[in-house]
Amino acid sequence: MADIAASEAPAPQVSPNNPCPFLRALVAGNYVGGHIVPLPELTETIGRATGKTGLAGFSARAKIFLVAQGANGFGPLSQLRSLLHGAILDELRNGPLDKHGAGSRILDQQAIVHEDEIARLTSYGRDYKAPDGSVERGLSASEIKTFMADNFRRAASEHSTSWTIRHYYYRLLMLGEWPVLLDIMGKGEGKDRYLSVAEVRTLFVERRFPDRIVALLNG
Ligand code: HEM
Repeated sequence: MADIAASEAPAPQVSPNNPCPFLRALVAGNYVGGHIVPLPELTETIGRATGKTGLAGFSARAKIFLVAQGANGFGPLSQLRSLLHGAILDELRNGPLDKHGAGSRILDQQAIVHEDEIARLTSYGRDYKAPDGSVERGLSASEIKTFMADNFRRAASEHSTSWTIRHYYYRLLMLGEWPVLLDIMGKGEGKDRYLSVAEVRTLFVERRFPDRIVALLNG
């Protein structure tokens, strides 16, 4: 059989049970496998995407390691399995990191992208000047904070009182998602650093990173 050029090879399937847009793009781009990924490999790959080196790089990688270690369950057996074998990326749904609808809801349980939820995200942003001088819609850290607070409010209004306890845990989890995405993929500096809505859309819909992140991943 003739060899298939890498560019012609079919893109890897990404399981609907992987609900993380960042990990979905890593799997789709073949940076990591879609099933069991050893924690050092996952940590190092995500660490590269952050572009951080030295002490900042070490600290970012340590946090990613901790998140990944608990991702498939907090019980001692799950933790041991994660340490020995790795994170199971196609078994993340309903795990400890699944906020059950308290997130953006851009991806549903079947991992189908909801355009109306992307439009909702867009409504929290404003126009920003990109480093290349063009203008695009994006969300700053404070706009992301408002967006997340409203996501929690929306979910809380649909749940009973027992949800409030989980609510605080979910809030904590989300600090490791959108704000970290801003940290990694944001453009501009300081309080004007923003997450480009167009790039978020590409990440969710096409499971593809911007070129500058691809360069870091390949570097
Ligand atoms: C620095 C790397 C990472 C970034 C930037 C990131 C970013 C995100 C974002 C933006 C969401 C979407 C939240 C929403 O729709 O509101 C998400 C969801 C999720 N992430 Fe990640 N993530 C990262 C690493 C990880 C790791 C290492 C794991 C576990 C191994 C993980 C597991 C999850 C899970 C389970 C969800 C679904 C949460 C839910 O739907 O409630 N993520 N992530």
